[in-house]
Amino acid sequence: MRLRGGARPAAAPVRVRFDGQEIEALPGESIAATLAAAGIVAVRSARSGAPRGPFCGMGVCFDCLVSVDGRPSQRACLTKIEAGMDVRSQPSPRNVAAEPPAPTREESCDVLVVGAGPAGLTAARDLARAGARTIVLDERLDPGGQYFKPLAASQASAAMPDRQFRAGATLRREAADSGAEIVTGATVWAAFGAGEIAAIVGGDSTLFRPRRLLLATGAYEQAAPIPGWTLPGVMTVGGLQGLARSYRVAPGQRIVIAGNGPLCLQTAVELLDGGAEIAAVVEAAPRPGLAQWRDLLRSGLAAPSLMLDGARLVRKLEHAGVPILWGDRAITILGSERAEGLQTRSRRIDADIVALGYGFASSSELARARMRASLRRAWCWQHGDRRRCRWPHLDSRGLRHRRRRPLRWRPCRAGRGYDRRGRNRQ
Ligand SMILES: Cc1cc2nc3c(=O)[nH]c(=O)nc-3n(C[C@H](O)[C@H](O)[C@H](O)COP(=O)(O)OP(=O)(O)OC[C@H]3O[C@@H](n4cnc5c(N)ncnc54)[C@H](O)[C@@H]3O)c2cc1C
Ligand code: FES
Repeated sequence: MRLRGGARPAAAPVRVRFDGQEIEALPGESIAATLAAAGIVAVRSARSGAPRGPFCGMGVCFDCLVSVDGRPSQRACLTKIEAGMDVRSQPSPRNVAAEPPAPTREESCDVLVVGAGPAGLTAARDLARAGARTIVLDERLDPGGQYFKPLAASQASAAMPDRQFRAGATLRREAADSGAEIVTGATVWAAFGAGEIAAIVGGDSTLFRPRRLLLATGAYEQAAPIPGWTLPGVMTVGGLQGLARSYRVAPGQRIVIAGNGPLCLQTAVELLDGGAEIAAVVEAAPRPGLAQWRDLLRSGLAAPSLMLDGARLVRKLEHAGVPILWGDRAITILGSERAEGLQTRSRRIDADIVALGYGFASSSELARARMRASLRRAWCWQHGDRRRCRWPHLDSRGLRHRRRRPLRWRPCRAGRGYDRRGRNRQ
Protein backbone atom coordinates (compact mmCIF):
# COMPACT_ATOMS: atom_id res chain seq x y z
CA MET A 1 0.00 0.00 0.00
CA ARG A 2 1.05 3.62 -0.54
CA LEU A 3 1.16 5.61 2.68
CA ARG A 4 -0.61 8.93 2.85
CA GLY A 5 0.74 12.27 4.06
CA GLY A 6 4.34 13.41 4.50
CA ALA A 7 5.01 13.71 0.76
CA ARG A 8 3.34 13.24 -2.60
CA PRO A 9 4.46 11.49 -5.81
CA ALA A 10 7.02 13.61 -7.66
CA ALA A 11 5.94 12.41 -11.11
CA ALA A 12 3.11 10.57 -12.83
CA PRO A 13 3.16 6.78 -12.31
CA VAL A 14 4.60 4.49 -14.99
CA ARG A 15 3.86 0.83 -15.76
CA VAL A 16 6.27 -2.05 -15.20
CA ARG A 17 5.83 -5.82 -15.30
CA PHE A 18 6.47 -8.32 -12.54
CA ASP A 19 6.28 -11.95 -13.71
CA GLY A 20 4.13 -10.76 -16.63
CA GLN A 21 1.66 -8.86 -14.43
CA GLU A 22 1.46 -5.08 -15.04
CA ILE A 23 1.88 -2.95 -11.94
CA GLU A 24 2.14 0.76 -11.26
CA ALA A 25 5.44 2.32 -10.21
CA LEU A 26 6.71 5.79 -9.33
CA PRO A 27 9.86 6.89 -11.19
CA GLY A 28 12.74 7.21 -8.71
CA GLU A 29 11.69 4.44 -6.33
CA SER A 30 13.36 1.05 -5.89
CA ILE A 31 11.94 -2.15 -7.35
CA ALA A 32 11.35 -3.37 -3.78
CA ALA A 33 9.25 -0.26 -3.07
CA THR A 34 7.16 -0.79 -6.22
CA LEU A 35 6.55 -4.42 -5.29
CA ALA A 36 5.72 -3.49 -1.69
CA ALA A 37 3.20 -0.90 -2.88
CA ALA A 38 1.58 -3.63 -4.98
CA GLY A 39 1.51 -5.97 -1.96
CA ILE A 40 4.02 -8.41 -3.51
CA VAL A 41 6.32 -9.86 -0.87
CA ALA A 42 7.68 -13.08 -2.48
CA VAL A 43 10.28 -12.39 -5.20
CA ARG A 44 12.49 -15.45 -5.44
CA SER A 45 12.83 -19.01 -4.27
CA ALA A 46 15.60 -20.68 -2.32
CA ARG A 47 17.28 -23.90 -3.51
CA SER A 48 14.77 -25.85 -1.44
CA GLY A 49 12.00 -24.15 -3.43
CA ALA A 50 10.87 -22.13 -0.39
CA PRO A 51 9.71 -18.61 -1.27
CA ARG A 52 11.76 -15.62 -0.18
CA GLY A 53 11.20 -11.86 -0.16
CA PRO A 54 12.92 -8.58 0.74
CA PHE A 55 14.19 -8.80 4.31
CA CYS A 56 16.81 -6.18 5.20
CA GLY A 57 15.92 -3.46 2.67
CA MET A 58 19.54 -2.31 2.64
CA GLY A 59 21.44 -4.60 0.28
CA VAL A 60 22.80 -7.00 2.89
CA CYS A 61 20.68 -10.17 2.85
CA PHE A 62 20.36 -10.82 -0.92
CA ASP A 63 16.88 -12.24 -0.34
CA CYS A 64 15.36 -9.78 -2.81
CA LEU A 65 17.26 -10.96 -5.92
CA VAL A 66 15.23 -10.60 -9.12
CA SER A 67 16.02 -10.62 -12.81
CA VAL A 68 15.65 -7.19 -14.44
CA ASP A 69 15.29 -6.99 -18.23
CA GLY A 70 17.15 -10.28 -18.50
CA ARG A 71 19.97 -9.36 -16.07
CA PRO A 72 19.89 -11.96 -13.27
CA SER A 73 20.46 -11.45 -9.53
CA GLN A 74 19.76 -7.74 -9.15
CA ARG A 75 18.97 -6.56 -5.62
CA ALA A 76 15.42 -5.22 -5.77
CA CYS A 77 16.02 -2.95 -2.77
CA LEU A 78 18.94 -1.16 -4.45
CA THR A 79 17.78 -1.08 -8.08
CA LYS A 80 15.85 1.90 -9.36
CA ILE A 81 12.66 1.21 -11.26
CA GLU A 82 12.30 2.44 -14.85
CA ALA A 83 9.25 2.66 -17.08
CA GLY A 84 8.58 -0.56 -19.00
CA MET A 85 10.98 -2.64 -16.88
CA ASP A 86 10.48 -6.39 -17.00
CA VAL A 87 11.11 -7.73 -13.50
CA ARG A 88 10.97 -11.45 -12.85
CA SER A 89 11.18 -13.57 -9.76
CA GLN A 90 14.08 -15.98 -9.95
CA PRO A 91 15.09 -19.31 -8.53
CA SER A 92 18.11 -19.64 -6.27
CA PRO A 93 20.93 -17.60 -7.90
CA ARG A 94 23.18 -20.33 -9.26
CA ASN A 95 24.00 -18.14 -12.23
CA VAL A 96 25.66 -15.31 -10.31
CA ALA A 97 29.10 -14.63 -11.83
CA ALA A 98 31.65 -16.44 -9.64
CA GLU A 99 34.12 -13.56 -9.83
CA PRO A 100 33.51 -9.87 -10.48
CA PRO A 101 35.07 -8.56 -13.71
CA ALA A 102 38.66 -7.30 -13.67
CA PRO A 103 38.86 -3.52 -13.09
CA THR A 104 38.53 -1.55 -16.32
CA ARG A 105 39.21 1.86 -14.75
CA GLU A 106 41.50 3.23 -12.06
CA GLU A 107 40.91 6.35 -10.01
CA SER A 108 43.17 8.14 -7.53
CA CYS A 109 42.23 10.59 -4.80
CA ASP A 110 43.50 11.88 -1.48
CA VAL A 111 40.79 10.23 0.61
CA LEU A 112 38.28 7.56 -0.31
CA VAL A 113 35.30 7.40 2.04
CA VAL A 114 33.19 4.24 1.89
CA GLY A 115 29.66 4.94 3.12
CA ALA A 116 27.59 8.10 2.73
CA GLY A 117 25.76 7.88 6.03
CA PRO A 118 25.99 10.62 8.68
CA ALA A 119 29.58 9.60 9.54
CA GLY A 120 30.85 9.36 5.95
CA LEU A 121 29.19 12.59 4.81
CA THR A 122 30.43 14.57 7.80
CA ALA A 123 34.00 13.33 7.32
CA ALA A 124 33.89 13.96 3.55
CA ARG A 125 32.55 17.49 4.05
CA ASP A 126 35.31 18.39 6.52
CA LEU A 127 38.06 16.74 4.46
CA ALA A 128 36.98 18.46 1.25
CA ARG A 129 36.73 21.80 3.03
CA ALA A 130 40.31 21.29 4.20
CA GLY A 131 41.41 20.86 0.59
CA ALA A 132 41.64 17.07 0.21
CA ARG A 133 40.32 15.53 -3.02
CA THR A 134 37.65 13.31 -1.51
CA ILE A 135 35.48 10.67 -3.12
CA VAL A 136 32.57 9.09 -1.25
CA LEU A 137 31.15 5.75 -2.43
CA ASP A 138 27.79 4.37 -1.34
CA GLU A 139 25.81 1.51 -2.76
CA ARG A 140 22.41 3.00 -1.96
CA LEU A 141 20.39 5.06 -4.41
CA ASP A 142 20.74 8.26 -2.33
CA PRO A 143 23.28 9.46 0.24
CA GLY A 144 22.15 9.76 3.87
CA GLY A 145 22.56 6.27 5.33
CA GLN A 146 20.34 4.65 7.91
CA TYR A 147 19.66 7.53 10.26
CA PHE A 148 18.67 10.13 7.68
CA LYS A 149 16.94 7.76 5.21
CA PRO A 150 16.32 10.60 2.75
CA LEU A 151 13.09 10.99 0.82
CA ALA A 152 13.47 9.12 -2.48
CA ALA A 153 13.35 10.90 -5.83
CA SER A 154 9.87 9.41 -6.31
CA GLN A 155 8.55 11.66 -3.54
CA ALA A 156 8.21 15.43 -3.36
CA SER A 157 7.50 17.54 -0.34
CA ALA A 158 7.33 21.34 -0.12
CA ALA A 159 8.73 21.26 3.42
CA MET A 160 10.80 18.41 4.85
CA PRO A 161 8.35 16.37 6.95
CA ASP A 162 10.42 16.15 10.15
CA ARG A 163 13.62 17.14 11.99
CA GLN A 164 15.52 14.01 10.92
CA PHE A 165 14.81 14.69 7.22
CA ARG A 166 15.81 18.35 7.62
CA ALA A 167 19.13 17.51 9.31
CA GLY A 168 19.87 14.97 6.56
CA ALA A 169 19.10 17.43 3.77
CA THR A 170 21.39 20.04 5.37
CA LEU A 171 24.30 17.59 5.72
CA ARG A 172 23.88 16.30 2.16
CA ARG A 173 23.88 19.84 0.81
CA GLU A 174 26.96 20.79 2.85
CA ALA A 175 28.81 17.67 1.69
CA ALA A 176 27.96 18.34 -1.97
CA ASP A 177 28.88 22.05 -1.68
CA SER A 178 32.21 21.22 -0.03
CA GLY A 179 33.47 19.77 -3.31
CA ALA A 180 33.48 16.13 -2.18
CA GLU A 181 32.49 13.83 -5.03
CA ILE A 182 29.58 11.67 -3.84
CA VAL A 183 28.99 8.57 -5.96
CA THR A 184 25.87 6.52 -5.24
CA GLY A 185 25.03 3.10 -6.67
CA ALA A 186 28.69 2.17 -6.07
CA THR A 187 29.31 -1.13 -4.29
CA VAL A 188 32.73 -1.65 -2.76
CA TRP A 189 33.35 -5.38 -2.88
CA ALA A 190 37.00 -5.77 -1.92
CA ALA A 191 39.86 -4.07 -0.10
CA PHE A 192 43.23 -5.47 -1.12
CA GLY A 193 44.82 -2.89 1.15
CA ALA A 194 44.15 0.71 2.14
CA GLY A 195 45.47 1.76 -1.26
CA GLU A 196 43.57 -0.69 -3.47
CA ILE A 197 39.81 -0.65 -3.21
CA ALA A 198 37.66 -2.40 -5.81
CA ALA A 199 34.13 -1.18 -6.51
CA ILE A 200 31.38 -1.68 -9.05
CA VAL A 201 30.33 1.80 -10.11
CA GLY A 202 27.42 2.04 -12.53
CA GLY A 203 28.09 -1.52 -13.70
CA ASP A 204 31.83 -0.89 -14.32
CA SER A 205 34.54 -2.44 -12.23
CA THR A 206 36.77 0.35 -10.86
CA LEU A 207 39.94 0.19 -8.78
CA PHE A 208 40.40 3.15 -6.44
CA ARG A 209 43.90 4.07 -5.30
CA PRO A 210 43.41 6.56 -2.46
CA ARG A 211 46.22 7.95 -0.30
CA ARG A 212 43.99 7.42 2.73
CA LEU A 213 40.95 5.21 3.24
CA LEU A 214 38.05 6.01 5.57
CA LEU A 215 35.51 3.27 6.27
CA ALA A 216 32.12 4.59 7.41
CA THR A 217 30.07 1.54 6.49
CA GLY A 218 27.71 1.73 9.46
CA ALA A 219 25.76 -1.27 10.67
CA TYR A 220 23.11 -3.73 9.67
CA GLU A 221 20.30 -5.26 11.61
CA GLN A 222 20.89 -8.67 13.09
CA ALA A 223 18.42 -11.30 12.01
CA ALA A 224 16.37 -13.00 14.72
CA PRO A 225 16.38 -16.62 13.51
CA ILE A 226 13.11 -17.83 15.06
CA PRO A 227 10.96 -20.44 13.27
CA GLY A 228 9.46 -18.91 10.12
CA TRP A 229 11.84 -15.92 9.93
CA THR A 230 12.64 -16.57 6.24
CA LEU A 231 9.00 -16.39 5.11
CA PRO A 232 8.08 -13.59 2.69
CA GLY A 233 6.42 -10.82 4.67
CA VAL A 234 9.01 -10.99 7.48
CA MET A 235 11.39 -8.01 7.44
CA THR A 236 13.79 -6.17 9.66
CA VAL A 237 12.33 -3.11 11.36
CA GLY A 238 14.91 -0.88 9.61
CA GLY A 239 13.96 -2.33 6.21
CA LEU A 240 10.30 -1.62 6.91
CA GLN A 241 11.12 1.89 8.11
CA GLY A 242 13.17 2.54 4.95
CA LEU A 243 10.15 1.67 2.79
CA ALA A 244 7.90 3.90 4.88
CA ARG A 245 10.19 6.92 5.26
CA SER A 246 12.00 7.04 1.92
CA TYR A 247 9.37 5.63 -0.42
CA ARG A 248 6.11 6.14 1.52
CA VAL A 249 4.99 2.54 1.04
CA ALA A 250 4.22 -0.42 3.31
CA PRO A 251 4.32 -4.02 2.08
CA GLY A 252 1.03 -4.86 3.86
CA GLN A 253 -1.95 -3.35 5.65
CA ARG A 254 -1.74 -4.96 9.10
CA ILE A 255 1.71 -4.97 10.66
CA VAL A 256 3.21 -6.31 13.87
CA ILE A 257 6.59 -5.02 15.05
CA ALA A 258 8.69 -6.99 17.54
CA GLY A 259 12.09 -6.09 18.92
CA ASN A 260 13.85 -3.81 21.29
CA GLY A 261 14.47 -0.08 21.34
CA PRO A 262 13.14 3.20 19.98
CA LEU A 263 13.38 2.21 16.28
CA CYS A 264 10.37 -0.14 16.75
CA LEU A 265 8.27 2.64 18.32
CA GLN A 266 9.29 5.25 15.72
CA THR A 267 8.54 2.89 12.81
CA ALA A 268 5.17 1.99 14.30
CA VAL A 269 4.19 5.67 14.64
CA GLU A 270 5.36 6.52 11.11
CA LEU A 271 3.34 3.66 9.60
CA LEU A 272 0.32 4.54 11.71
CA ASP A 273 0.48 8.17 10.54
CA GLY A 274 0.61 6.92 6.94
CA GLY A 275 -2.59 4.88 7.32
CA ALA A 276 -1.27 1.36 8.08
CA GLU A 277 -2.77 -0.68 10.91
CA ILE A 278 -0.33 -1.61 13.68
CA ALA A 279 -1.53 -4.86 15.23
CA ALA A 280 0.92 -4.57 18.14
CA VAL A 281 4.43 -3.55 19.16
CA VAL A 282 6.18 -6.36 21.05
CA GLU A 283 8.94 -4.80 23.16
CA ALA A 284 11.50 -7.07 24.83
CA ALA A 285 12.26 -4.57 27.63
CA PRO A 286 9.94 -4.22 30.63
CA ARG A 287 7.67 -1.18 30.83
CA PRO A 288 9.75 1.72 32.19
CA GLY A 289 8.67 2.42 35.74
CA LEU A 290 9.91 3.24 39.20
CA ALA A 291 11.75 -0.08 39.43
CA GLN A 292 14.08 1.12 36.66
CA TRP A 293 14.64 4.57 38.19
CA ARG A 294 18.44 4.28 38.01
CA ASP A 295 18.42 3.47 34.25
CA LEU A 296 15.82 6.17 33.59
CA LEU A 297 17.84 8.76 35.49
CA ARG A 298 21.05 7.80 33.67
CA SER A 299 19.37 7.93 30.24
CA GLY A 300 17.55 11.15 31.08
CA LEU A 301 20.82 12.84 32.01
CA ALA A 302 22.70 11.44 28.97
CA ALA A 303 20.09 12.09 26.28
CA PRO A 304 17.06 14.02 27.58
CA SER A 305 15.64 14.74 24.10
CA LEU A 306 15.79 11.05 23.18
CA MET A 307 13.91 10.17 26.37
CA LEU A 308 11.23 12.78 25.60
CA ASP A 309 10.92 11.48 22.02
CA GLY A 310 10.49 7.94 23.38
CA ALA A 311 7.77 9.04 25.83
CA ARG A 312 5.99 10.94 23.04
CA LEU A 313 6.03 7.86 20.75
CA VAL A 314 4.65 5.60 23.49
CA ARG A 315 1.90 8.11 24.30
CA LYS A 316 0.95 8.39 20.64
CA LEU A 317 0.71 4.61 20.17
CA GLU A 318 -1.31 4.16 23.36
CA HIS A 319 -3.61 7.01 22.36
CA ALA A 320 -4.23 5.28 18.99
CA GLY A 321 -5.09 2.06 20.84
CA VAL A 322 -2.02 0.12 19.62
CA PRO A 323 -1.15 -2.60 22.17
CA ILE A 324 2.47 -2.38 23.39
CA LEU A 325 3.44 -5.74 24.86
CA TRP A 326 6.24 -4.80 27.28
CA GLY A 327 8.61 -7.57 28.37
CA ASP A 328 7.34 -9.91 25.63
CA ARG A 329 9.26 -11.59 22.79
CA ALA A 330 8.63 -13.05 19.34
CA ILE A 331 8.70 -16.86 19.43
CA THR A 332 7.40 -18.09 16.02
CA ILE A 333 6.25 -16.56 12.76
CA LEU A 334 2.89 -18.01 11.72
CA GLY A 335 2.14 -19.02 8.12
CA SER A 336 3.47 -21.50 5.55
CA GLU A 337 3.87 -19.66 2.21
CA ARG A 338 4.09 -16.17 3.69
CA ALA A 339 3.84 -14.52 7.11
CA GLU A 340 0.35 -14.58 8.57
CA GLY A 341 1.11 -13.46 12.10
CA LEU A 342 3.31 -13.78 15.12
CA GLN A 343 3.24 -15.96 18.20
CA THR A 344 4.80 -14.19 21.17
CA ARG A 345 5.38 -15.59 24.63
CA SER A 346 2.00 -14.32 25.70
CA ARG A 347 -0.29 -14.24 22.66
CA ARG A 348 -0.99 -14.82 18.97
CA ILE A 349 -1.16 -11.74 16.73
CA ASP A 350 -2.55 -11.95 13.19
CA ALA A 351 -0.80 -9.69 10.64
CA ASP A 352 0.29 -9.51 6.95
CA ILE A 353 3.76 -8.23 7.80
CA VAL A 354 6.03 -9.10 10.72
CA ALA A 355 8.99 -6.82 11.41
CA LEU A 356 11.77 -7.99 13.72
CA GLY A 357 14.43 -5.70 15.23
CA TYR A 358 16.66 -7.23 17.88
CA GLY A 359 19.85 -5.19 17.54
CA PHE A 360 22.62 -4.14 15.15
CA ALA A 361 26.00 -5.51 14.10
CA SER A 362 28.68 -3.29 12.61
CA SER A 363 29.46 -3.70 8.90
CA SER A 364 33.12 -4.47 9.44
CA GLU A 365 33.72 -6.74 6.42
CA LEU A 366 35.91 -4.26 4.55
CA ALA A 367 37.93 -3.45 7.66
CA ARG A 368 38.57 -7.15 8.16
CA ALA A 369 39.42 -7.69 4.47
CA ARG A 370 41.86 -4.82 4.63
CA MET A 371 43.48 -6.23 7.74
CA ARG A 372 43.96 -9.61 6.06
CA ALA A 373 45.51 -7.89 3.04
CA SER A 374 47.87 -5.90 5.28
CA LEU A 375 48.97 -9.01 7.12
CA ARG A 376 49.63 -10.69 3.80
CA ARG A 377 51.81 -7.82 2.69
CA ALA A 378 53.66 -7.71 6.00
CA TRP A 379 54.45 -11.36 5.53
CA CYS A 380 55.70 -10.73 1.97
CA TRP A 381 58.14 -8.13 3.19
CA GLN A 382 59.50 -10.27 5.92
CA HIS A 383 60.43 -12.93 3.40
CA GLY A 384 62.91 -11.03 1.32
CA ASP A 385 62.84 -7.90 -0.74
CA ARG A 386 62.09 -9.77 -3.95
CA ARG A 387 58.46 -8.99 -3.12
CA ARG A 388 57.28 -12.49 -3.56
CA CYS A 389 54.63 -14.05 -1.47
CA ARG A 390 53.24 -17.47 -0.90
CA TRP A 391 49.50 -17.28 -1.37
CA PRO A 392 48.83 -20.02 -3.84
CA HIS A 393 45.07 -19.73 -3.68
CA LEU A 394 44.97 -16.00 -4.56
CA ASP A 395 45.65 -14.55 -7.99
CA SER A 396 47.23 -11.17 -8.68
CA ARG A 397 43.91 -9.42 -8.04
CA GLY A 398 43.57 -11.16 -4.70
CA LEU A 399 40.68 -13.28 -5.98
CA ARG A 400 40.28 -16.72 -4.56
CA HIS A 401 40.68 -19.60 -6.98
CA ARG A 402 38.12 -22.30 -6.83
CA ARG A 403 40.75 -25.04 -7.04
CA ARG A 404 43.70 -24.85 -4.69
CA ARG A 405 46.85 -24.67 -6.76
CA PRO A 406 50.04 -26.46 -5.74
CA LEU A 407 52.13 -24.43 -3.35
CA ARG A 408 54.55 -22.17 -5.21
CA TRP A 409 55.95 -18.69 -5.05
CA ARG A 410 54.02 -16.06 -6.95
CA PRO A 411 54.94 -12.44 -7.64
CA CYS A 412 53.09 -10.25 -5.17
CA ARG A 413 51.92 -7.34 -7.30
CA ALA A 414 49.89 -6.03 -4.40
CA GLY A 415 52.97 -5.69 -2.17
CA ARG A 416 54.29 -2.62 -3.96
CA GLY A 417 54.20 0.61 -2.03
CA TYR A 418 53.60 -0.93 1.38
CA ASP A 419 55.90 -0.82 4.34
CA ARG A 420 56.78 -3.69 6.65
CA ARG A 421 53.50 -3.34 8.56
CA GLY A 422 51.42 -3.25 5.42
CA ARG A 423 50.85 0.53 5.63
CA ASN A 424 50.51 2.46 2.41
CA ARG A 425 53.74 4.42 1.79
CA GLN A 426 52.54 6.34 -1.25
C1 LIG B 1 18.51 -0.67 9.36
C2 LIG B 1 18.95 0.39 10.32
C3 LIG B 1 18.08 1.40 10.69
C4 LIG B 1 18.48 2.39 11.57
N1 LIG B 1 17.58 3.38 11.89
C5 LIG B 1 17.95 4.32 12.79
C6 LIG B 1 17.06 5.36 13.18
O1 LIG B 1 15.94 5.43 12.68
N2 LIG B 1 17.48 6.25 14.10
C7 LIG B 1 18.72 6.18 14.65
O2 LIG B 1 19.05 7.00 15.49
N3 LIG B 1 19.58 5.22 14.30
C8 LIG B 1 19.24 4.29 13.40
N4 LIG B 1 20.11 3.31 13.06
C9 LIG B 1 21.42 3.28 13.67
C10 LIG B 1 22.40 3.88 12.64
O3 LIG B 1 23.39 2.91 12.45
C11 LIG B 1 22.99 5.20 13.06
O4 LIG B 1 22.02 6.04 13.61
C12 LIG B 1 23.63 5.98 11.91
O5 LIG B 1 22.92 5.87 10.70
C13 LIG B 1 25.03 5.50 11.72
O6 LIG B 1 25.64 6.33 10.76
P1 LIG B 1 26.85 5.82 9.88
O7 LIG B 1 27.19 6.92 8.93
O8 LIG B 1 27.91 5.30 10.77
O9 LIG B 1 26.30 4.55 9.09
P2 LIG B 1 25.07 4.37 8.10
O10 LIG B 1 24.06 5.43 8.26
O11 LIG B 1 24.63 2.96 8.25
O12 LIG B 1 25.75 4.53 6.66
C14 LIG B 1 26.64 3.59 6.14
C15 LIG B 1 26.57 3.66 4.64
O13 LIG B 1 27.60 2.85 4.10
C16 LIG B 1 27.12 2.23 2.94
N5 LIG B 1 27.90 1.03 2.71
C17 LIG B 1 28.13 0.01 3.59
N6 LIG B 1 28.92 -0.92 3.01
C18 LIG B 1 29.17 -0.49 1.75
C19 LIG B 1 29.92 -1.02 0.66
N7 LIG B 1 30.57 -2.17 0.75
N8 LIG B 1 29.94 -0.32 -0.51
C20 LIG B 1 29.30 0.87 -0.63
N9 LIG B 1 28.58 1.42 0.38
C21 LIG B 1 28.52 0.75 1.55
C22 LIG B 1 25.66 1.94 3.22
O14 LIG B 1 24.92 1.84 2.03
C23 LIG B 1 25.26 3.13 4.08
O15 LIG B 1 24.61 4.13 3.32
C24 LIG B 1 19.76 2.34 12.14
C25 LIG B 1 20.64 1.33 11.76
C26 LIG B 1 20.25 0.37 10.85
C27 LIG B 1 21.22 -0.70 10.45
S1 FES C 1 19.42 -7.24 -0.03
FE1 FES C 1 17.54 -6.41 -0.68
S2 FES C 1 16.24 -6.84 0.98
FE2 FES C 1 18.14 -7.53 1.68
